[in-house]
Amino acid sequence: MKKTILISLVCSALVCAFVLPSLHAAPKAPADMTIEMPKGQKATKAPVAFSHAKHKALDCKACHHKWDGKGDVKGCSSAGCHEDYKAKKGDKSFYGAFHAATSKTSCLGCHKDLKTAKKPTGPTACTQCHPQKK
Ligand code: HEC
Ligand code: HEC
Ligand code: HEC
Repeated sequence: MKKTILISLVCSALVCAFVLPSLHAAPKAPADMTIEMPKGQKATKAPVAFSHAKHKALDCKACHHKWDGKGDVKGCSSAGCHEDYKAKKGDKSFYGAFHAATSKTSCLGCHKDLKTAKKPTGPTACTQCHPQKK
């Protein structure tokens, strides 16, 4: 009898220690990835390699600007986000999400700002991100 109580106590302690936190754990940054136009959209440029590891010095919200810091991280082209594939400008523009020169959250905007500030930065030339198709 005592043994069963002890076992169930140990089990519930293990559940509290390991299972519950994992249910609430914040999402991790994925490994190196390729960013491309969503299925069904015609791409004119080569897909872009992106490394979270190379950006690990930054806060997640430097890019995931709508993230609450706890729940799922949404992709840039999620419904209601950068889902306009025609417009080159504006909050809904897919192109703008990655190139808007005045945005601190776009790839190009951030890299340009850092370049101006003479700080370590990433590429700003088209072909450095979109390798030329052969
Ligand atoms: C320099 C910009 C940048 C930083 C910093 C960054 N991410 Fe990302 N992350 C991206 C981009 C771009 C994508 C691809 C989005 C897409 O495919 O639409 C992405 C995708 C993701 C995804 C997959 C989302 C999906 O579409 O399923 C997760 C999860 C994620 N990031 C988590 C994180 C976490 C956690 C951090 C902080 C530790 C972080 N990211 C920091 C730019 C960044
Ligand atoms: C908020 C600022 C910021 C944003 C947004 C950002 N980057 Fe960067 N990126 C950096 C910084 C800083 C570095 C330099 C890191 C270093 O050298 O330590 C960098 C470096 C890079 C590099 C060079 C990595 C290497 O091999 O040395 C690439 C490629 C790159 N970024 C691609 C992207 C792409 C693609 C996006 C958008 C999806 C993006 N970055 C968004 C700040 C940013
Ligand atoms: C810092 C990296 C980076 C630089 C520099 C960059 N882009 Fe992009 N670009 C991206 C990312 C990320 C996407 C979204 C993924 C995709 O669609 O390939 C994108 C998407 C695009 C798209 C829409 C998708 C398509 O294939 O039609 C066009 C057009 C485009 N870029 C053109 C350019 C041009 C022109 C330049 C130079 C002025 C440029 N990009 C510079 C990262 C970059």
